[in-house]
Amino acid sequence: MGLCFSSLFSSPSNPNSSSLKTPHFSATTTASTSSGVKSQFSEIGSGSIDGGGGSQNQDEDKIVERPNLKVFSFGELKSATKGFRSDTLLGEGGFGKVYKGWLDEKTLNPAKSGTGIVVAIKKLNQESTQGFQEWQSEVNFLGRLSHPNLVKLLGYCWDDDELLLVYEFLPKGSLENHLFRRNPNIEPLSWNARIKIATGAARGLAFLHSSEKQIIYRDFKASNILLDGNYNAKLSDFGLAKLGPSAGESHVTTRVMGTYGYAAPEYIATGHLYVKSDVYGFGVVLLEILTGMRALDTKRPTGQQNLVEWVKPNLYNKKKLKTIMDARIESQYSFKAALQAAQLTLKCLEHDPRNRPSMKEVVESLEGIEAIQDKSKESKNRKMRSAAIQHPQQHGRARQRVT
Ligand SMILES: Nc1ncnc2c1ncn2[C@@H]1O[C@H](COP(=O)(O)OP(=O)(O)OP(=O)(O)O)[C@@H](O)[C@H]1O
Ligand SMILES: [Mg+2]
Repeated sequence: MGLCFSSLFSSPSNPNSSSLKTPHFSATTTASTSSGVKSQFSEIGSGSIDGGGGSQNQDEDKIVERPNLKVFSFGELKSATKGFRSDTLLGEGGFGKVYKGWLDEKTLNPAKSGTGIVVAIKKLNQESTQGFQEWQSEVNFLGRLSHPNLVKLLGYCWDDDELLLVYEFLPKGSLENHLFRRNPNIEPLSWNARIKIATGAARGLAFLHSSEKQIIYRDFKASNILLDGNYNAKLSDFGLAKLGPSAGESHVTTRVMGTYGYAAPEYIATGHLYVKSDVYGFGVVLLEILTGMRALDTKRPTGQQNLVEWVKPNLYNKKKLKTIMDARIESQYSFKAALQAAQLTLKCLEHDPRNRPSMKEVVESLEGIEAIQDKSKESKNRKMRSAAIQHPQQHGRARQRVT
């Protein structure tokens, strides 16, 4: 195929683009920014992104001018997945199916299954209506961003009518799978893991928001938070990401797209997309993490289907908070930590975007909640140790740990 990066972004038309299907809702038909009508494509292609200076000074935390992506042929990816065999299927979303594949670590050429590095290969479903734009956006944004809390895009394929994306493989799958799939073989996520995941995802969003030309993620939800082997959270799916408002502007006006249950009210009502619209989505996910319930679930009784509308009043009330927390983690958290997490959720879900915290503030709050948990664990251990010293026979096991 041999497409270079710049030619990729100056080729807006593709025979597939009109026949592709999307899992997302979309409400209006205008696609413009407050600074004039521009497509997603030309905005990012204009090179107006911060070239890596400013606050992004770590090696793993940067925006690159020219992405270092491998361009794969369809044949290579077919071979890496054993011909897209069904036993390599990892999952399926609105974009298409995701397969597990194997590549040589150095050359990224296809390797025999079980050798080299494992990757996740997303293959566009030809019926997806927004697929081509989402594919471009993913390459444009994710191809240029590098941060420990963003999934790494390794390369892409555009071979005739086949569009694919190749990512690092994240062995624990999505947060959605862990929170909502009631699989008796999978332990429910512990409180500590939940807060760790929330903090990691918040850091990913904070990074996007802090670049000189802010990036609005627009599709923050549990299925787009992937987990590595140590439950480090990484944001995936930049198909709906947009550059933030120009200097002096508060928002971008755009076609309303996103996922029901997560999208901010001002965005749904007006098409005005703020950086703080992402903070609302974060609040919804935090609520899912606390309650273990989906943002939207049509199987719940009328009046309870939209989680925010149903549960929000209980977040103000200390007694009621206990009733909505996920029962599977009941004994694992200090009430003080849960209360602070509920208060943070409420702030993120503020109706007026100006009243929501920045993602940097959200990260700081979550770090504070993690610290409460550590402190309460420490004080529990201290109490156990002192009880063991006073009553060694009754606390044999605790005493053993002391000595
Ligand atoms: N990099 C990856 N590593 C491991 N598994 C992945 C990776 N990317 C995706 N998956 C798996 O594939 C599934 C489908 O992902 P995909 O992003 O296509 O859809 P989704 O997020 O579930 O839905 P949506 O289309 O609304 O984004 C995920 O649930 C996840 O289990
Ligand atoms: Mg996804």
